[in-house]
Amino acid sequence: MNRVFSGVQPSGNLHLGNYLGAIRNFVRLQEEYECIYCVVDLHAITMWQDPAELRSNTRTVTAAFLAAGIDPKAQIIFNQSQVPAHAELAWIFHCVARLGWLSRMTQFKEKAGKKRENASVGLYVYPDLMAADILLYKATHVPVGEDQKQHLELCRDIAQKFNHDFGVAYFPLVEPLILGEATRVMSLRDGTRKMSKSDPSDYSRINLTDDATAIARKIRRAKTDPEPLPGSPEGLRGRPEADNLIGIYAALADTSKEEACRRFDGAQFSTFKEALAELTVSTLGRIGAEMRRLLADPGYVDSVLRDGRARASAIAEANLGEIHGIVGLLRP
Ligand code: TYM
Repeated sequence: MNRVFSGVQPSGNLHLGNYLGAIRNFVRLQEEYECIYCVVDLHAITMWQDPAELRSNTRTVTAAFLAAGIDPKAQIIFNQSQVPAHAELAWIFHCVARLGWLSRMTQFKEKAGKKRENASVGLYVYPDLMAADILLYKATHVPVGEDQKQHLELCRDIAQKFNHDFGVAYFPLVEPLILGEATRVMSLRDGTRKMSKSDPSDYSRINLTDDATAIARKIRRAKTDPEPLPGSPEGLRGRPEADNLIGIYAALADTSKEEACRRFDGAQFSTFKEALAELTVSTLGRIGAEMRRLLADPGYVDSVLRDGRARASAIAEANLGEIHGIVGLLRP
């Protein structure tokens, strides 16, 4: 059986990268798959979070899932901490994964930076928990942005080693689904850096909750270069900002970079940015407004999470029981 699982951290501002790299694909995949979408609060606390903000961000990510069009009746939406089996399976995976594997994770290196000795242990073993999220449900397909690719390779390594060590064919080898023309949306201030929730400059990203004026202003101020736009993607080489903006346009217009370049062949950035701002506002404006409407009634958002928790727990508990059996954990 094919099953999709993916997660989004409730830390900081959800942005256009989260939408184009992940959430928009979550919506599309529900046509074809049974899907489980998780607000990964246990992942968020690998970096310190203000407790009140964490609660609020958990509801905001849930609202974004709903506003983008995920159907909470047909699919499962829940927050990770409410299904304790995630943390339990992560422990088993800590005993499967090797120190060397985790030491190679570029996200840890980036996030820990120079103060590695001071990083939380949780940040280091984060990919084990991510593998547990996915494999607890025996999910087969995982839609993510480009930056999560290495973590999914580790998830496959864990599944493979577990199956091998215990002589079973229990866990599937998951397939990453890295879809569309904007799998790695870059900062609007620096085309060589990823658009990120934690960038101190709000001008570096478009937040899902930005209004039309803010979106237009940020796009107008986005860094560019002096050349007009090229007629084909080859002309974007060595022009990271132009490449990023064309990628965003193509993704939002649901077309290819080739087609986007054809449309704006020889245009100045000022003309292109106007079209891009209009397109961005027409997509995100609707989602932001729906998020605000949903968040005005947290009772509904909470009820979605409660219902999701019950349905996720049923699958998780059954699978964790089987995993205990495989590992040899006695249920007396
Ligand atoms: P997180 O919360 O950082 O990001 C959520 C999703 O958004 C994608 N993304 C981007 N895509 C394109 N351009 C960008 N600039 C950009 N920034 C973020 C991410 O790739 C991700 O798909 N470890 C995960 C959360 C997680 C998870 C999981 C994902 C925990 N357990 C199990 C899949 C399956 C993370 O930190 O995502």
